[in-house]
Amino acid sequence: MRLAVGATIVIVALSLLSVLVTGQEAGAADEVHARAKRSSNLVGGAKTLDKKDAEQRLQASLDKLAAGDGPNYRISKVYSATTQVVSGTLTKIDVELFNENDEKERCTVKIWAQPWLPNGYEVTFDCPNKELVKRRHSRSVEQLEKKTHKKRNHHSLDKTEHLFSKFQIKYNRRYHTAMEHQMRLRIFKQNLEIIKELNRNEMGSAKYGITEFADLTSTEYKQRTGLWQRSEDKPSKNAPAVIPNIELPKEFDWREKGVISKVKNQGMCGSCWAFSVTGNVEGLHAVKTGKLEEYSEQELLDCDTSDSACNGGLMDNAYEAIEHIGGLELESDYPYEGRKDQCKFSKSKVHVKVKGGVDLPKNETAIAQWLIANGPISIGINANAMQFYRGGVSHPWKALCSKKNLDHGVLIVGYGVSDYPMFKKTLPYWIVKNSWGPKWGEQGYYRVYRGDNTCGVSEMASSAVLE
Ligand SMILES: *[C@@H]1O[C@H](CO)[C@@H](O)[C@H](O)[C@H]1NC(C)=O
Repeated sequence: MRLAVGATIVIVALSLLSVLVTGQEAGAADEVHARAKRSSNLVGGAKTLDKKDAEQRLQASLDKLAAGDGPNYRISKVYSATTQVVSGTLTKIDVELFNENDEKERCTVKIWAQPWLPNGYEVTFDCPNKELVKRRHSRSVEQLEKKTHKKRNHHSLDKTEHLFSKFQIKYNRRYHTAMEHQMRLRIFKQNLEIIKELNRNEMGSAKYGITEFADLTSTEYKQRTGLWQRSEDKPSKNAPAVIPNIELPKEFDWREKGVISKVKNQGMCGSCWAFSVTGNVEGLHAVKTGKLEEYSEQELLDCDTSDSACNGGLMDNAYEAIEHIGGLELESDYPYEGRKDQCKFSKSKVHVKVKGGVDLPKNETAIAQWLIANGPISIGINANAMQFYRGGVSHPWKALCSKKNLDHGVLIVGYGVSDYPMFKKTLPYWIVKNSWGPKWGEQGYYRVYRGDNTCGVSEMASSAVLE
């Protein structure tokens, strides 16, 4: 290959990486709590924060301060930023600001956010030759409403704005203020760039485009996932799975055997882990008994104390929790609410019991063998390419979808191969059941490349064991 082309791709990939792989910072109070509760290896170090995220965060604080007693700064340019989980989040931003006299000065701004406190935001401005300015402000959704905001000019709709209004109609988006509209439009524009890059670097056959998540930042989008990292100091208690030595057929799909329930929707709650587990248990139970039942994720949100409901969890924890709780109730008896509620578990309504779990090897051949012999498999996956996935076999550039950054729990239900004789291309893939409703992806499913651990598909494969 020509070196120059390769180098360009790497540069593009790396710059994109900074946009895509920024799901580390904590925004909402509950998320901060959840992260602090998690293993200590996640807490501590400062991580690079994407400039546009930093700008948004700083703008929100400046708006809030301007509405109070100042100072009245405007952002000229963000040079760099880091974020760190402390008691709350500490964001440090190296930024050029316009001061009250419209002069530029380069300052370090620290935003220490403890959103669960009444006046939980402390903003410190450290500017050259000036005393440190320290201010506090509260958290408010209304902080985006600003008196100085100009009315939108409806006569200059460019192409992006046209796409944006189509998006708003299709996904029924209503923004409450003109300010929020402008902010969402800005995010939408940036996402169009990411979509372009994903399509340009796609090695499979997937198409990326505008989805219902097209007006969300990567941080907001990741609230629809919810998988914790397995902590290194607390290894999985699962036994290793026994891999049957069977010859693999070219294709296999558990959906055709009637053991997979309809695609569900976790909503705006980081409960992917619970959906991954119910899908797994539903499948195992149906394979064993011939009867497909739907089990309750809400029971896990309410009663599994080792996981954190809408603030994320681990499938490993849930297998053990189901054993402790005493089994799973039916979805219809214990319906989904999408938020943590009181545990209403009733032993008399149990339909399936679990005895811990097993871990599958990080080997995609072995995973396929186990799948055929047993049923669907819970996996962790990096969800970067899923935000804008519209269909096809997804094989993103590795740098855009690191196997180390598993943030979403889903379910492998089968596998297959796509042949593209015209392009002399053969694409083996996994069929992955997601929990973002049937309108997402391919009727709620994701096809992801099989054979090179794309997006970490084989890193965290596991299953419950039925009693
Ligand atoms: C993966 O599993 C298959 C079948 O179980 C086995 O033949 C193969 O050697 C394994 N590969 C590695 C790298 O361990």
